[in-house]
Amino acid sequence: MNITADRLLLFGATGDLAQRMLLPSLCALDADGLLEPELKIVGTARSGMSTQEYRDFAREALEKYLPDHRRGGVAEFLNRLSYVPVDATTIDGYDQLAREVGEYNKGLAIFLSTAPSLFEPTIDGLVHAGLTKGNVRIGLEKPLGNDLASSKEINDAVAKAFSEDRIFRIDHYLGKETVQNLLAMRFANILLEPVWNSNYIDHVQITVAETVGLESRVAYYDDSGALRDMVQNHMLQLLALVAMEPPTSFDSTAVRDEKVKVLRALRPVGADETVTGQYRAGAVNGGAVPGYDEELGKDSDTETFVALKAHVDNWRWKGVPFYLRTGKRLPERVTEIVIQFRCIPHSIFAGRGATTRPNRLLIGIQPEENVQLSMMAKVPGLDREGIRLRQIPLDIAMPDAFSGTVRRIAYERLLLDLIEGDQTLFVRRDEVEAQWEWVDAIRTLWEAEDIKPKTYGAGSWGPSAAIALAERDGVSWHDE
Ligand code: BG6
Repeated sequence: MNITADRLLLFGATGDLAQRMLLPSLCALDADGLLEPELKIVGTARSGMSTQEYRDFAREALEKYLPDHRRGGVAEFLNRLSYVPVDATTIDGYDQLAREVGEYNKGLAIFLSTAPSLFEPTIDGLVHAGLTKGNVRIGLEKPLGNDLASSKEINDAVAKAFSEDRIFRIDHYLGKETVQNLLAMRFANILLEPVWNSNYIDHVQITVAETVGLESRVAYYDDSGALRDMVQNHMLQLLALVAMEPPTSFDSTAVRDEKVKVLRALRPVGADETVTGQYRAGAVNGGAVPGYDEELGKDSDTETFVALKAHVDNWRWKGVPFYLRTGKRLPERVTEIVIQFRCIPHSIFAGRGATTRPNRLLIGIQPEENVQLSMMAKVPGLDREGIRLRQIPLDIAMPDAFSGTVRRIAYERLLLDLIEGDQTLFVRRDEVEAQWEWVDAIRTLWEAEDIKPKTYGAGSWGPSAAIALAERDGVSWHDE
């Protein structure tokens, strides 16, 4: 049985993620009575601050990032916080950290929201201070390396002190409600599974479009690019959830066993199956925005857009392309999965002049959480000139279907799962490594073929070659 931790130790406690996501999520959980009364949260980072100063810092972050309707309980939450400055690269400081953490009678949950280069020295410091003994688990924020080799190094360093069942690798997409709903839709209904294969599905599209540009993470992003920043993790996890076989139960081993089989079945991508792009100045949401090179202040070959045609080489998905695309400075923020079904084998309406279109299932992850199934229906009327058919959506808006329930952001769920010790929504080492292996091969291909990003105007759907990638198979990207 998992035991709920009574201490949470947060590395990177003054960072951007802590301010925007971690502190607000923890505060919201606390206000809803979901944190054990004895849970004490110790923050640490390099900045010299007292506990009182950290509480003031946290209050400011909460004022900025907690939505108005979730502002309750801030004072009580701040009382749980304490702070110890630690330079993660030196061993000093960890003993004081251990004293601040004190006895953890039930367990200690550690969360590393720091640069991965600090993971190894941090683990050494934790071992030195005895903070890996007993019921201790560790959460790791991305990026977990920038290729397979560096990811293995990180995984090895963490494995020195923690067994795999104590390592919680975050992919925050797995904490999103509709992402988990994909599993419910597939495996809690009888209707979809029989048609969820190459006999009935023509292709799958996964889009993660963002309107933002570089934001404040200039150095990280320019080193990483869209393939490593978004495809290696979030998009491959979405693909794995769409393509996996039914696990025997909703438990961490069964679910992750099935996901990793999909990731290992990904066929290496061919040179004509990828398109990369980098945005130039343009307009997004009606406002002028600079190009990537201008934001960066120098020329760069980093891709801010990538489109791919992927294949899962197994029995179920033979011949079904998975088109993936993601990019910054696209016209809208949207994450969605489109399952495009095949045409009906024979139309009884053709002789009456009516055309039919194949069914399509759209799973909207953000900004709308919805599920939309397009079906053919008869247009009302006497049809004296022939029957008229039209595609109409069966539309379920999740917030309406579940009005009265609290919509939680991904980190609320993931932090609670870390504290309570449930690994189902965290990524296992073999998954991360299979993801990197596939992505590394794409980068090697780009280098070998000298594939460089094509330019696209900010506010467009990426380079025209991305549209052509789908169109030459007779496919249009959804909503273009
Ligand atoms: C992060 C990426 O993992 O996900 C960012 O590093 C990206 O570049 C972000 O903006 C997108 O997350 P979300 O939840 O806003 O879709």
